[in-house]
Amino acid sequence: MKVLTPILSLCLAFAIFSCSANKKEYEVKETSLKEALKDKFLIGTALNTNHIWGKDTAAIKIVTEQFNSIVAENCMKSMYIQPTEGEFYFKDADKFVEYGEQNNLYITGHTLIWHSQTPDWFFTDDKGKDVSREVLIERMKNHIKTVVSRYKGRIKGWDVVNEAILEDGSWRNSKFYKIIGEDFISLAFQFAHEADPDAELYYNDYNEWHAGKRDAIVKLVNSLKEKGLRIDGVGMQGHLGMDYPSLDEYRAAIDTYSSAGVKVLITELDVSALPSPRRDIGANIADTEAYRQEMNPYTNGLPDSISSAWNKRMGELFNLFIDNSDKIARVTMWGVTDGDSWKNNYPMPGRTDYPLLFDRQYKAKPVVKEIINKLKVKKSKK
Ligand code: G3I
Repeated sequence: MKVLTPILSLCLAFAIFSCSANKKEYEVKETSLKEALKDKFLIGTALNTNHIWGKDTAAIKIVTEQFNSIVAENCMKSMYIQPTEGEFYFKDADKFVEYGEQNNLYITGHTLIWHSQTPDWFFTDDKGKDVSREVLIERMKNHIKTVVSRYKGRIKGWDVVNEAILEDGSWRNSKFYKIIGEDFISLAFQFAHEADPDAELYYNDYNEWHAGKRDAIVKLVNSLKEKGLRIDGVGMQGHLGMDYPSLDEYRAAIDTYSSAGVKVLITELDVSALPSPRRDIGANIADTEAYRQEMNPYTNGLPDSISSAWNKRMGELFNLFIDNSDKIARVTMWGVTDGDSWKNNYPMPGRTDYPLLFDRQYKAKPVVKEIINKLKVKKSKK
Protein backbone atom coordinates (compact mmCIF):
# COMPACT_ATOMS: atom_id res chain seq x y z
CA MET A 1 0.00 0.00 0.00
CA LYS A 2 2.94 2.26 0.86
CA VAL A 3 4.22 1.81 -2.72
CA LEU A 4 0.77 2.19 -4.23
CA THR A 5 -0.09 5.52 -2.57
CA PRO A 6 2.37 7.68 -4.57
CA ILE A 7 1.37 5.88 -7.79
CA LEU A 8 -2.31 6.42 -7.05
CA SER A 9 -1.80 10.09 -6.27
CA LEU A 10 0.17 10.48 -9.47
CA CYS A 11 -2.66 8.88 -11.47
CA LEU A 12 -5.19 11.08 -9.69
CA ALA A 13 -3.15 14.21 -10.42
CA PHE A 14 -2.84 13.20 -14.07
CA ALA A 15 -6.60 12.53 -14.30
CA ILE A 16 -7.39 15.93 -12.78
CA PHE A 17 -4.87 17.63 -15.07
CA SER A 18 -6.14 16.04 -18.28
CA CYS A 19 -9.74 16.59 -17.28
CA SER A 20 -9.19 20.31 -16.62
CA ALA A 21 -7.07 20.64 -19.77
CA ASN A 22 -9.88 19.08 -21.82
CA LYS A 23 -12.45 21.17 -20.06
CA LYS A 24 -10.56 24.37 -20.81
CA GLU A 25 -10.25 23.49 -24.48
CA TYR A 26 -13.89 22.43 -24.58
CA GLU A 27 -15.07 25.72 -23.07
CA VAL A 28 -13.13 27.81 -25.55
CA LYS A 29 -14.68 25.88 -28.43
CA GLU A 30 -18.13 26.13 -26.90
CA THR A 31 -17.99 29.90 -26.63
CA SER A 32 -16.27 30.92 -29.82
CA LEU A 33 -18.59 32.59 -32.26
CA LYS A 34 -15.83 33.06 -34.83
CA GLU A 35 -15.02 29.35 -34.82
CA ALA A 36 -18.67 28.34 -35.21
CA LEU A 37 -19.35 30.87 -37.97
CA LYS A 38 -16.08 30.54 -39.84
CA ASP A 39 -17.62 28.89 -42.91
CA LYS A 40 -20.54 31.35 -42.92
CA PHE A 41 -19.39 34.96 -42.63
CA LEU A 42 -17.02 37.19 -40.69
CA ILE A 43 -18.31 38.04 -37.23
CA GLY A 44 -17.28 41.46 -36.00
CA THR A 45 -17.71 44.15 -33.42
CA ALA A 46 -17.30 47.91 -33.19
CA LEU A 47 -14.54 49.16 -30.90
CA ASN A 48 -14.65 52.34 -28.84
CA THR A 49 -11.55 54.14 -27.55
CA ASN A 50 -11.55 52.21 -24.25
CA HIS A 51 -11.25 49.02 -26.27
CA ILE A 52 -8.70 50.43 -28.68
CA TRP A 53 -6.40 51.57 -25.87
CA GLY A 54 -6.82 48.33 -23.92
CA LYS A 55 -8.51 50.02 -20.93
CA ASP A 56 -11.50 47.67 -20.96
CA THR A 57 -9.56 44.44 -20.58
CA ALA A 58 -12.60 42.20 -20.09
CA ALA A 59 -14.12 43.46 -23.34
CA ILE A 60 -10.83 43.01 -25.18
CA LYS A 61 -10.73 39.37 -24.05
CA ILE A 62 -14.17 38.90 -25.61
CA VAL A 63 -13.05 40.58 -28.82
CA THR A 64 -9.99 38.39 -29.29
CA GLU A 65 -11.79 35.18 -28.33
CA GLN A 66 -15.09 35.68 -30.13
CA PHE A 67 -14.68 37.96 -33.12
CA ASN A 68 -12.53 37.97 -36.25
CA SER A 69 -13.37 41.42 -37.53
CA ILE A 70 -13.45 44.98 -36.15
CA VAL A 71 -14.68 48.43 -37.09
CA ALA A 72 -14.01 51.75 -35.33
CA GLU A 73 -17.20 53.00 -33.69
CA ASN A 74 -16.18 56.66 -33.75
CA CYS A 75 -12.48 57.47 -34.08
CA MET A 76 -12.35 57.54 -37.90
CA LYS A 77 -15.26 59.95 -38.32
CA SER A 78 -14.19 63.22 -39.89
CA MET A 79 -14.88 65.35 -36.79
CA TYR A 80 -12.37 63.24 -34.86
CA ILE A 81 -9.82 62.47 -37.56
CA GLN A 82 -9.71 65.92 -39.20
CA PRO A 83 -11.18 68.31 -36.62
CA THR A 84 -9.52 71.32 -38.26
CA GLU A 85 -8.75 71.62 -41.94
CA GLY A 86 -5.42 69.97 -42.72
CA GLU A 87 -4.82 68.90 -39.11
CA PHE A 88 -5.34 65.20 -38.85
CA TYR A 89 -5.54 63.33 -35.55
CA PHE A 90 -4.53 59.75 -36.26
CA LYS A 91 -3.53 58.47 -32.81
CA ASP A 92 -6.72 56.52 -32.07
CA ALA A 93 -7.14 55.24 -35.62
CA ASP A 94 -3.49 54.13 -35.81
CA LYS A 95 -3.85 52.23 -32.55
CA PHE A 96 -7.10 50.66 -33.76
CA VAL A 97 -5.45 49.38 -36.95
CA GLU A 98 -2.38 48.20 -35.04
CA TYR A 99 -4.61 46.28 -32.61
CA GLY A 100 -6.46 44.65 -35.50
CA GLU A 101 -3.26 43.59 -37.21
CA GLN A 102 -1.69 42.23 -34.05
CA ASN A 103 -4.76 40.07 -33.47
CA ASN A 104 -5.28 39.02 -37.05
CA LEU A 105 -8.66 40.73 -37.36
CA TYR A 106 -10.35 41.86 -40.59
CA ILE A 107 -10.39 45.66 -40.34
CA THR A 108 -13.13 47.92 -41.70
CA GLY A 109 -12.88 51.71 -41.81
CA HIS A 110 -15.94 53.75 -40.77
CA THR A 111 -16.82 56.21 -42.24
CA LEU A 112 -15.47 58.56 -44.90
CA ILE A 113 -18.45 60.72 -45.92
CA TRP A 114 -21.41 61.18 -43.58
CA HIS A 115 -23.77 64.13 -43.15
CA SER A 116 -23.38 63.75 -39.40
CA GLN A 117 -20.22 64.23 -37.32
CA THR A 118 -18.58 66.26 -40.08
CA PRO A 119 -16.90 69.35 -38.66
CA ASP A 120 -18.40 72.69 -39.73
CA TRP A 121 -15.18 73.87 -41.41
CA PHE A 122 -15.75 71.23 -44.10
CA PHE A 123 -18.69 73.15 -45.56
CA THR A 124 -17.91 76.77 -44.75
CA ASP A 125 -15.45 79.50 -45.73
CA ASP A 126 -13.72 81.92 -43.38
CA LYS A 127 -16.85 84.10 -43.33
CA GLY A 128 -19.04 81.19 -42.29
CA LYS A 129 -20.71 80.94 -45.72
CA ASP A 130 -21.19 77.67 -47.60
CA VAL A 131 -18.22 76.89 -49.83
CA SER A 132 -18.59 76.30 -53.58
CA ARG A 133 -19.08 72.88 -55.14
CA GLU A 134 -15.43 72.90 -56.32
CA VAL A 135 -14.07 73.67 -52.86
CA LEU A 136 -16.18 71.00 -51.18
CA ILE A 137 -15.14 68.40 -53.76
CA GLU A 138 -11.49 69.32 -53.15
CA ARG A 139 -11.94 69.01 -49.37
CA MET A 140 -13.70 65.69 -49.76
CA LYS A 141 -10.95 64.44 -52.05
CA ASN A 142 -8.18 65.54 -49.68
CA HIS A 143 -9.95 63.98 -46.70
CA ILE A 144 -10.63 60.65 -48.37
CA LYS A 145 -7.22 60.36 -50.00
CA THR A 146 -5.32 61.24 -46.82
CA VAL A 147 -7.24 58.82 -44.62
CA VAL A 148 -7.53 55.90 -47.04
CA SER A 149 -3.94 56.03 -48.28
CA ARG A 150 -2.60 56.10 -44.70
CA TYR A 151 -4.09 52.64 -44.14
CA LYS A 152 -3.62 51.31 -47.68
CA GLY A 153 -3.48 47.53 -47.73
CA ARG A 154 -4.23 47.36 -43.99
CA ILE A 155 -7.86 48.44 -43.83
CA LYS A 156 -9.63 45.92 -46.04
CA GLY A 157 -12.93 47.70 -46.59
CA TRP A 158 -14.38 51.19 -46.17
CA ASP A 159 -17.84 52.52 -45.44
CA VAL A 160 -17.37 55.19 -48.09
CA VAL A 161 -20.72 56.96 -47.86
CA ASN A 162 -23.06 56.69 -44.92
CA GLU A 163 -26.81 57.40 -44.80
CA ALA A 164 -27.33 59.50 -47.94
CA ILE A 165 -30.85 58.24 -48.71
CA LEU A 166 -34.13 58.69 -46.82
CA GLU A 167 -36.81 56.10 -46.14
CA ASP A 168 -38.97 57.28 -49.05
CA GLY A 169 -36.05 56.83 -51.44
CA SER A 170 -35.25 60.53 -51.84
CA TRP A 171 -31.78 61.99 -51.29
CA ARG A 172 -31.01 63.30 -47.82
CA ASN A 173 -30.74 67.07 -48.05
CA SER A 174 -27.28 67.09 -46.47
CA LYS A 175 -24.64 69.75 -47.03
CA PHE A 176 -22.82 67.34 -49.34
CA TYR A 177 -25.97 66.92 -51.42
CA LYS A 178 -26.95 70.60 -51.36
CA ILE A 179 -23.53 71.89 -52.35
CA ILE A 180 -22.29 69.17 -54.71
CA GLY A 181 -25.43 67.37 -55.83
CA GLU A 182 -25.97 63.62 -55.91
CA ASP A 183 -22.64 62.96 -57.57
CA PHE A 184 -20.88 63.57 -54.25
CA ILE A 185 -21.46 59.83 -53.80
CA SER A 186 -19.78 58.72 -57.02
CA LEU A 187 -16.92 61.16 -56.39
CA ALA A 188 -16.40 59.71 -52.92
CA PHE A 189 -16.23 56.17 -54.32
CA GLN A 190 -13.85 57.32 -57.04
CA PHE A 191 -11.48 59.04 -54.56
CA ALA A 192 -11.49 56.06 -52.20
CA HIS A 193 -10.69 53.67 -55.03
CA GLU A 194 -7.87 55.87 -56.30
CA ALA A 195 -6.36 55.94 -52.81
CA ASP A 196 -6.45 52.17 -52.33
CA PRO A 197 -7.43 50.19 -55.44
CA ASP A 198 -7.51 46.91 -53.47
CA ALA A 199 -9.84 48.05 -50.70
CA GLU A 200 -13.47 46.96 -50.72
CA LEU A 201 -15.92 49.87 -50.84
CA TYR A 202 -19.37 49.96 -49.26
CA TYR A 203 -22.49 52.11 -49.06
CA ASN A 204 -23.89 51.93 -45.50
CA ASP A 205 -27.36 52.88 -44.20
CA TYR A 206 -29.99 52.31 -41.47
CA ASN A 207 -33.69 51.48 -41.92
CA GLU A 208 -32.26 49.62 -44.85
CA TRP A 209 -35.26 47.30 -44.93
CA HIS A 210 -37.74 50.10 -45.79
CA ALA A 211 -38.82 49.38 -49.36
CA GLY A 212 -38.36 52.99 -50.56
CA LYS A 213 -34.84 53.32 -49.19
CA ARG A 214 -33.94 49.77 -50.22
CA ASP A 215 -34.93 50.30 -53.84
CA ALA A 216 -33.13 53.65 -54.00
CA ILE A 217 -29.95 52.02 -52.64
CA VAL A 218 -30.18 49.39 -55.38
CA LYS A 219 -30.55 52.19 -57.95
CA LEU A 220 -27.48 53.85 -56.50
CA VAL A 221 -25.48 50.60 -56.68
CA ASN A 222 -26.49 50.17 -60.32
CA SER A 223 -25.62 53.74 -61.21
CA LEU A 224 -22.17 53.46 -59.60
CA LYS A 225 -21.56 50.26 -61.54
CA GLU A 226 -22.76 51.84 -64.78
CA LYS A 227 -20.21 54.61 -64.24
CA GLY A 228 -17.52 51.93 -63.96
CA LEU A 229 -16.93 52.62 -60.27
CA ARG A 230 -16.07 50.03 -57.69
CA ILE A 231 -18.72 49.14 -55.11
CA ASP A 232 -18.37 45.84 -53.29
CA GLY A 233 -21.15 45.84 -50.79
CA VAL A 234 -24.17 47.35 -49.12
CA GLY A 235 -23.94 47.78 -45.37
CA MET A 236 -27.25 47.02 -43.70
CA GLN A 237 -26.70 48.73 -40.37
CA GLY A 238 -29.23 46.61 -38.50
CA HIS A 239 -30.34 48.91 -35.66
CA LEU A 240 -33.42 46.84 -35.01
CA GLY A 241 -36.23 46.49 -32.49
CA MET A 242 -38.04 43.56 -30.93
CA ASP A 243 -40.96 43.83 -33.32
CA TYR A 244 -39.55 45.62 -36.36
CA PRO A 245 -38.70 44.83 -39.03
CA SER A 246 -40.41 41.49 -39.60
CA LEU A 247 -38.09 38.66 -40.62
CA ASP A 248 -39.78 38.67 -44.04
CA GLU A 249 -39.02 42.36 -44.51
CA TYR A 250 -35.41 41.80 -43.54
CA ARG A 251 -35.05 38.73 -45.76
CA ALA A 252 -36.50 40.67 -48.69
CA ALA A 253 -33.92 43.43 -48.18
CA ILE A 254 -31.04 40.91 -48.07
CA ASP A 255 -32.32 39.29 -51.27
CA THR A 256 -32.80 42.61 -53.04
CA TYR A 257 -29.31 43.91 -52.26
CA SER A 258 -27.74 40.60 -53.16
CA SER A 259 -29.52 40.46 -56.48
CA ALA A 260 -27.94 43.83 -57.32
CA GLY A 261 -24.67 41.88 -57.47
CA VAL A 262 -22.98 43.15 -54.30
CA LYS A 263 -22.05 41.60 -50.98
CA VAL A 264 -24.46 42.11 -48.12
CA LEU A 265 -22.87 43.18 -44.84
CA ILE A 266 -24.75 43.53 -41.57
CA THR A 267 -22.63 46.36 -40.24
CA GLU A 268 -23.99 47.74 -36.95
CA LEU A 269 -26.26 45.11 -35.45
CA ASP A 270 -28.12 45.72 -32.20
CA VAL A 271 -31.64 44.87 -31.09
CA SER A 272 -33.14 47.20 -28.54
CA ALA A 273 -35.04 45.46 -25.73
CA LEU A 274 -36.83 48.68 -24.82
CA PRO A 275 -40.14 50.08 -26.00
CA SER A 276 -39.68 52.12 -29.13
CA PRO A 277 -41.50 55.39 -29.62
CA ARG A 278 -41.89 54.61 -33.34
CA ARG A 279 -41.51 51.62 -35.64
CA ASP A 280 -39.04 53.34 -37.94
CA ILE A 281 -36.85 54.87 -35.29
CA GLY A 282 -33.69 53.87 -37.21
CA ALA A 283 -30.53 55.74 -36.32
CA ASN A 284 -30.85 59.33 -37.38
CA ILE A 285 -28.98 60.79 -34.46
CA ALA A 286 -30.62 64.19 -34.78
CA ASP A 287 -33.95 62.47 -34.09
CA THR A 288 -33.87 62.25 -30.28
CA GLU A 289 -36.72 62.60 -27.83
CA ALA A 290 -36.98 63.85 -24.25
CA TYR A 291 -36.54 61.21 -21.54
CA ARG A 292 -39.75 59.59 -20.33
CA GLN A 293 -39.68 57.28 -17.31
CA GLU A 294 -42.24 54.86 -18.78
CA MET A 295 -39.92 54.27 -21.75
CA ASN A 296 -37.15 53.08 -19.44
CA PRO A 297 -38.75 50.12 -17.66
CA TYR A 298 -35.80 47.78 -16.98
CA THR A 299 -33.25 49.78 -15.03
CA ASN A 300 -32.64 46.89 -12.59
CA GLY A 301 -32.26 44.14 -15.16
CA LEU A 302 -34.43 42.50 -17.78
CA PRO A 303 -37.39 40.43 -16.56
CA ASP A 304 -37.04 36.76 -17.65
CA SER A 305 -39.89 37.02 -20.14
CA ILE A 306 -38.29 39.98 -21.94
CA SER A 307 -34.86 38.40 -21.81
CA SER A 308 -36.22 35.19 -23.43
CA ALA A 309 -38.03 37.19 -26.08
CA TRP A 310 -34.86 39.19 -26.81
CA ASN A 311 -32.73 36.03 -27.12
CA LYS A 312 -35.36 34.48 -29.37
CA ARG A 313 -35.40 37.56 -31.61
CA MET A 314 -31.59 37.72 -31.89
CA GLY A 315 -31.50 33.96 -32.54
CA GLU A 316 -34.05 34.30 -35.35
CA LEU A 317 -31.98 37.05 -36.93
CA PHE A 318 -28.81 34.95 -36.77
CA ASN A 319 -30.73 32.00 -38.24
CA LEU A 320 -31.74 34.27 -41.10
CA PHE A 321 -28.13 35.36 -41.60
CA ILE A 322 -26.85 31.78 -41.47
CA ASP A 323 -29.49 30.63 -43.94
CA ASN A 324 -28.40 33.45 -46.27
CA SER A 325 -24.68 33.12 -45.69
CA ASP A 326 -24.09 32.74 -49.42
CA LYS A 327 -25.12 36.42 -49.69
CA ILE A 328 -23.75 37.80 -46.42
CA ALA A 329 -20.02 38.49 -46.05
CA ARG A 330 -19.93 39.91 -42.52
CA VAL A 331 -22.12 40.46 -39.46
CA THR A 332 -20.82 43.14 -37.09
CA MET A 333 -22.25 43.94 -33.65
CA TRP A 334 -22.34 47.67 -32.81
CA GLY A 335 -20.38 47.29 -29.60
CA VAL A 336 -19.15 44.53 -27.31
CA THR A 337 -21.33 44.76 -24.19
CA ASP A 338 -24.69 46.34 -23.36
CA GLY A 339 -22.97 48.95 -21.22
CA ASP A 340 -21.10 50.28 -24.28
CA SER A 341 -24.10 50.67 -26.52
CA TRP A 342 -25.17 53.98 -28.05
CA LYS A 343 -28.74 52.65 -27.63
CA ASN A 344 -28.59 53.59 -23.93
CA ASN A 345 -28.87 57.18 -25.18
CA TYR A 346 -30.96 56.84 -28.30
CA PRO A 347 -33.65 57.76 -29.11
CA MET A 348 -33.86 58.95 -25.51
CA PRO A 349 -30.94 59.81 -23.28
CA GLY A 350 -30.29 57.97 -20.04
CA ARG A 351 -32.08 54.66 -20.62
CA THR A 352 -30.83 51.16 -19.76
CA ASP A 353 -30.93 49.02 -22.87
CA TYR A 354 -29.82 45.44 -23.59
CA PRO A 355 -29.11 45.32 -27.33
CA LEU A 356 -25.85 43.34 -27.69
CA LEU A 357 -24.59 39.76 -27.34
CA PHE A 358 -22.72 40.31 -24.04
CA ASP A 359 -24.25 41.81 -20.92
CA ARG A 360 -22.94 44.50 -18.55
CA GLN A 361 -21.10 41.81 -16.59
CA TYR A 362 -19.34 40.70 -19.82
CA LYS A 363 -21.33 37.48 -19.79
CA ALA A 364 -22.45 35.90 -23.05
CA LYS A 365 -26.22 35.89 -23.45
CA PRO A 366 -27.91 32.50 -24.04
CA VAL A 367 -28.26 33.21 -27.76
CA VAL A 368 -24.46 33.05 -28.17
CA LYS A 369 -24.43 29.39 -27.13
CA GLU A 370 -27.52 28.73 -29.21
CA ILE A 371 -25.83 30.04 -32.36
CA ILE A 372 -22.76 27.91 -31.67
CA ASN A 373 -24.77 24.79 -30.88
CA LYS A 374 -27.01 25.16 -33.89
CA LEU A 375 -23.97 25.17 -36.17
CA LYS A 376 -22.41 22.23 -34.37
CA VAL A 377 -25.59 20.20 -34.86
CA LYS A 378 -25.75 21.17 -38.54
CA LYS A 379 -22.11 20.20 -39.09
CA SER A 380 -22.44 16.84 -37.38
CA LYS A 381 -25.51 16.05 -39.55
CA LYS A 382 -23.44 16.52 -42.72
O1 G3I B 1 -15.85 61.69 -26.69
C1 G3I B 1 -16.81 62.63 -26.15
C2 G3I B 1 -16.50 62.90 -24.73
O2 G3I B 1 -15.25 63.55 -24.64
C3 G3I B 1 -17.62 63.76 -24.12
O3 G3I B 1 -17.40 63.95 -22.77
C4 G3I B 1 -18.97 63.08 -24.32
C5 G3I B 1 -20.14 63.93 -23.82
O4 G3I B 1 -21.29 63.73 -24.59
O5 G3I B 1 -19.16 62.87 -25.69
C6 G3I B 1 -18.19 62.00 -26.26
O6 G3I B 1 -18.45 61.85 -27.60
C7 G3I B 1 -19.57 61.05 -27.95
C8 G3I B 1 -19.07 59.91 -28.82
O7 G3I B 1 -20.16 59.16 -29.29
C9 G3I B 1 -18.12 58.97 -28.07
O8 G3I B 1 -18.77 58.37 -27.01
C10 G3I B 1 -20.55 61.91 -28.72
O9 G3I B 1 -21.11 62.88 -27.87
C11 G3I B 1 -21.66 61.04 -29.29
O10 G3I B 1 -22.45 61.82 -30.19
C12 G3I B 1 -21.05 59.90 -30.10
O11 G3I B 1 -22.11 59.08 -30.52
C13 G3I B 1 -21.81 58.17 -31.57
C14 G3I B 1 -22.71 58.47 -32.77
O12 G3I B 1 -22.52 57.49 -33.78
C15 G3I B 1 -22.36 59.82 -33.37
O13 G3I B 1 -21.08 59.80 -33.91
C16 G3I B 1 -22.06 56.77 -31.07
O14 G3I B 1 -21.10 56.45 -30.06
C17 G3I B 1 -21.96 55.77 -32.22
O15 G3I B 1 -22.35 54.51 -31.77
C18 G3I B 1 -22.86 56.20 -33.35
O16 G3I B 1 -22.67 55.31 -34.42
C19 G3I B 1 -23.49 55.53 -35.59
C20 G3I B 1 -22.69 55.09 -36.79
O17 G3I B 1 -21.46 55.76 -36.84
C21 G3I B 1 -23.48 55.32 -38.09
N1 G3I B 1 -24.78 54.66 -38.02
C22 G3I B 1 -25.58 54.99 -36.87
C23 G3I B 1 -24.80 54.73 -35.58
C24 G3I B 1 -25.63 55.04 -34.38
O18 G3I B 1 -25.93 56.41 -34.34
